[in-house]
Amino acid sequence: MAEMMKAVQLHEFGGPEMLQYEDVLRPVAGDDEVLVRVYAASLNPPDWYLREGFRALPPEWWPNPVFPLILGTDVSGVVAAVGKNVSEFSIGDEVYSMVRFPEEVMRGSGAYADYVSVPASELALKPQGIEHALAAGAPMSLLTAWQFLVELGHNAPNPFQPFPHKPVPLEGRTVLVNGAGGGVGHFAVQIARWKGARVIAVASSRHEVFLRGLGADEFIDYSKIAVETVVKNVDLVIDAGGGANMERFLSTIKQGGALFLVNPLGFSGQDEAGEKGITVSTTQVRSSGMQLSEAGRLLEKGIIRVVIDSTYPLAMAAAAHKRVSSGSIQGKIVLTNF
Ligand SMILES: NC(=O)c1ccc[n+]([C@@H]2O[C@H](COP(=O)([O-])OP(=O)(O)OC[C@H]3O[C@@H](n4cnc5c(N)ncnc54)[C@H](OP(=O)(O)O)[C@@H]3O)[C@@H](O)[C@H]2O)c1
Repeated sequence: MAEMMKAVQLHEFGGPEMLQYEDVLRPVAGDDEVLVRVYAASLNPPDWYLREGFRALPPEWWPNPVFPLILGTDVSGVVAAVGKNVSEFSIGDEVYSMVRFPEEVMRGSGAYADYVSVPASELALKPQGIEHALAAGAPMSLLTAWQFLVELGHNAPNPFQPFPHKPVPLEGRTVLVNGAGGGVGHFAVQIARWKGARVIAVASSRHEVFLRGLGADEFIDYSKIAVETVVKNVDLVIDAGGGANMERFLSTIKQGGALFLVNPLGFSGQDEAGEKGITVSTTQVRSSGMQLSEAGRLLEKGIIRVVIDSTYPLAMAAAAHKRVSSGSIQGKIVLTNF
């Protein structure tokens, strides 16, 4: 007889109240997959974009998935079963993953559940000494910072530009991180520091102490100071904020420098960048167990760390999504399921 589990399901697009904690069929591991008992899952922007039906995009891009959907890409947990082709993982291993992103985000068999099946190639052993709630906070944000700043790690076409994204050297360079307090931003600050860059963190005032604690050399509160009035000649800006007027960063970058846009939608400064000799580049994060293993070693050694904004029991996923709308997230929002 099929086994059941609890999961948070979305039956139609809408607000946080659309997330229902209910009984569903437990997934089984496919031949190349691992079934993970979920101890913690974290929230990422694609979760709430999908919950809302990607309403910030033009209507022709709105998705039309088969409901109900289980949201969630980021998971930390314990291997409960392995598919017949999987030899790298065993029952009982503690693992973490970003599951099936981006291609299968509409599939709706995500991590806000007691169990999730994960392709073995997207799984890594959980960094030792890091509890599940912290490990679950890492995958998408960490892989995004890694693929932008350290190594792209794949040859898949870039949906945002005709050329592959390429990280730039960071040692001895000055890097400005905008949106530094959030999931991607707080890892970008730490990775740039680890690579030997001088880091200017830009965020709202609430994040100053925490970002200096993560190694930011300078801090700018964007709500008080317009960055472009005080910063000149940096080598790289990585903007993990997005939104209006990303072109403002071009005047802060030296000739030959780079602007990396984590959320590039709406950027219109290509011509100005070309005139100034600035490379503008972006990419879309992709699942990778191998990169999670590599970056996980930095977590294991305490060279970088995950910062938790808040935690909620899995059953209270709707409250966690409400936390998103109150803004100013510091690090990661995590759902626990011990
Ligand atoms: N390309 C990709 O594959 C990829 C992957 C992951 C995420 N993303 C995108 O990257 C963005 C960041 O993701 P995330 O997971 O880090 O989100 P997040 O955790 O919600 O963080 C966003 C941060 O931006 C800050 N912020 C908001 N308005 C700002 C402004 N005007 N100037 C500077 N900072 C501002 C927020 O806090 P304060 O306002 O308090 O400073 C918050 O700390 C999202 O748009 C997401 O869709 C893209």
